[in-house]
Amino acid sequence: MTADGLKGRAILLCVSGSIAAYKACEVARLLVKAGARVRVAMTRSAVRFVSPLTFQALTGAAVSSDLFHSQQELTAGHIAQADAADLIVVAPATAHLLGAARLGLADDVVLAALLAARGPVLFAPAMNERMWAHAAVQENVRVLRERGARFVGPNAGEMAEAGHVGMGRLAEPEEILAAVRAALGPRDLTGKKVVITAGPTREHLDPVRFLSNPSSGKMGFAIAEAACDRGAEVVLISGPVALTDPPHARVVRVVTAEEMLAVTRREAAGAHVLVMAAAVADQRAEKRATHKVSKKPGAETVSLVRTEDILLTLAAEWERTPSRPIVVGFAAETERVIERAKEKLSRKRMDLIVANDVSRNDAGFGTEENAATILDQGGGAEEISRVKKRVLADRVLDRVVLLIAKRA
Ligand code: PMT
Repeated sequence: MTADGLKGRAILLCVSGSIAAYKACEVARLLVKAGARVRVAMTRSAVRFVSPLTFQALTGAAVSSDLFHSQQELTAGHIAQADAADLIVVAPATAHLLGAARLGLADDVVLAALLAARGPVLFAPAMNERMWAHAAVQENVRVLRERGARFVGPNAGEMAEAGHVGMGRLAEPEEILAAVRAALGPRDLTGKKVVITAGPTREHLDPVRFLSNPSSGKMGFAIAEAACDRGAEVVLISGPVALTDPPHARVVRVVTAEEMLAVTRREAAGAHVLVMAAAVADQRAEKRATHKVSKKPGAETVSLVRTEDILLTLAAEWERTPSRPIVVGFAAETERVIERAKEKLSRKRMDLIVANDVSRNDAGFGTEENAATILDQGGGAEEISRVKKRVLADRVLDRVVLLIAKRA
């Protein structure tokens, strides 16, 4: 989505009382620059950090900070503001604000607007790292997510308090802008079922040992989030990862390649799109020991067999059916990346393949960002330099949308 995607969109930027409130000024500036119509609401404590006048100057609009403002409330200002907004952005969102929003309290303009809101809400939390880690805050975040709220950040780094380092810094203004764009993005996958696999599989040798790989699931989860944002019905089939379920996707957790094949076969039947971002283990133990295997003197051997290739198996099965989903695969390579990806694209009968060079340590497995080349059946190659996985996810889905249109 380009900067034009925000042109004319109404954003209610809600600011709560944190030292990071000054960064909300930059968020307001970037939103205005991108063409959004920005109104600002501030909590009582926010105005102690930044003056409403600053936001008024940046947005050219009156700022609300008083629930009992006789003029604004003549027209139930807090409800009207929530109604008029295409998106409410709370940046920074303090621990107190998150707790109060979860409880549905409404004793200031920001909380009242949040309670009245019927559209999307994006929280950008900022607080001390111990507060962020507290079970109460984490539970509030979980509940708000379950109710459909989105989150950007917090990020790791130095806190305002000297010597404190950890997770709790407000996301950078550019990241908040990207999250706003994502929340207001096109709904061009509405009515489409998109099945996505993510993460590694684990192939157990015995109950406590397994073969696997470093996939964190971040790439597949980013695609699932992007597809949800674009209106798709999303089924996310994930191997063992430590990520929170995207709120609008149906998530099926699996462990082994065999389980992933079975669930993918079931879910992909009748789906419009299958994206295989999972790093499926290629080998498993020929025999899985029922009990923990004891150490023995001398050399130890384990006999491995190949796991079934999910894409190859399904491609063969779909030859006998009238329709098959659009298939996007990923290739994790350490050498001759494009050449090998091309070979997989044709052998596994995919429509697109996303070739990753996983020998880099700033992209691929486990990182927040990825760099890739999207290859298609017509010989086209779109190179994407290092970007957030979410950005790559949208670029892949842009291509999927074009393929769906071609098929129609
Ligand atoms: O999870 P992250 O930490 O975010 O990392 C992302 C990633 C690097 C894992 C991801 O972007 C990626 O590259 N995933 C595919 C990794 C992989 O298994 O590549 P491959 O070249 O071995 O397989 C090619 C394709 O066949 C893949 O779409 C894979 O899902 C599929 N496959 C592989 C093996 C198998 N038994 N069955 C399959 O269907």
